[in-house]
Amino acid sequence: MLRQVLLALSHRPAIGARLERSGLTRGAVRRFVAGTDIPDVLAAVRALPPGCAAALTYLGENVATAEAAGAAAEVYRRTVREALAGGLSPSLSVKLTQLGLDLGDAVAVANARAILEEARRGGLFVRIDMEGSAYTDRTLALHETLAREFDNVGVAIQAYLYRSERDLDRLIQAGANVRLVKGAYREPPELAYPKKRDVDAAFLRLITQHFSALARGARGLCAVATHDPHMVAHAEAEAARLRLPRDRFEFQLLYGIGADLRDRLLAAGYRVRVLVPFGESWYGYFMRRLAERPANLLFVLRAALQGG
Ligand code: FDA
Repeated sequence: MLRQVLLALSHRPAIGARLERSGLTRGAVRRFVAGTDIPDVLAAVRALPPGCAAALTYLGENVATAEAAGAAAEVYRRTVREALAGGLSPSLSVKLTQLGLDLGDAVAVANARAILEEARRGGLFVRIDMEGSAYTDRTLALHETLAREFDNVGVAIQAYLYRSERDLDRLIQAGANVRLVKGAYREPPELAYPKKRDVDAAFLRLITQHFSALARGARGLCAVATHDPHMVAHAEAEAARLRLPRDRFEFQLLYGIGADLRDRLLAAGYRVRVLVPFGESWYGYFMRRLAERPANLLFVLRAALQGG
């Protein structure tokens, strides 16, 4: 119930603007968001433990003008250049609605291409995040278009959607690089499992589906993006059972969450990547993090009482 309320609030940016002005949430936001500018995010990447890879995401979604979409793409391109100049090789994680998907496919594709070209020149990978179900078909179609042109692009699949097993099959056949996640948006029961235990079971099945295909010789890579120790244990067990080489999959976590799990996986010799967000538009991202774990509300209150 609380999760639904928080997710509903995540679509009310005016509340975010008010919170920002009040300064009440600043301390809490900083747990999940590295800062506002490119130097902030690069500093956060440098502070990750040795051997831990990073994916950078410039916060923002559902932009309403072509100018805002182009500006977001430009920030990503600058991020690539500044990261490389600083000796870092992170991947990027982008949202198509931040690149103008609501203004039409052509706007989003043009911006995505500009980012992919810049990233490809530097040997960097770009992941397309999966957003709400209104965008699933278009996101997969645009990923398919871009993957014909670029070998440094991949996409995410959400275990809570009933359709995901079929989508993953298609991506496996195309040799795609896929990130598996549980899913972070508010979805109706006609499209997504309402119960957490069903989402978890679907996530386990997707891990086995992708790992088995990779072990049988499919091209591509699998990123298991979760902080759930049960999902991680399943991936470890399946990789061992299928003798899947460790360079065919990786674990991914969000900045500020699951540091113990991250360190255990690094110590065990797995590939690990942390997704590090930055930018001013933290509100939607932050509310989804609260919705995943309503106990985080206590953390917000504590930070507010301590003066941010
Ligand atoms: P679950 O929610 O069951 O949590 C397992 C445990 O992890 C919890 O018990 C808690 O200990 C810890 N935990 C989880 N969330 C926490 C939080 N917010 N604060 C503190 N602790 C927390 N979604 C999407 O729809 N599209 C996408 O493209 C992506 N991309 C993405 C990339 C990466 C790298 C990650 C890790 C996640 C995403 N997600 C996403 C988000 C994903 O769908 C999901 O909402 C979160 O990962 C939370 O689910 P868990 O798998 O961690 O399990």
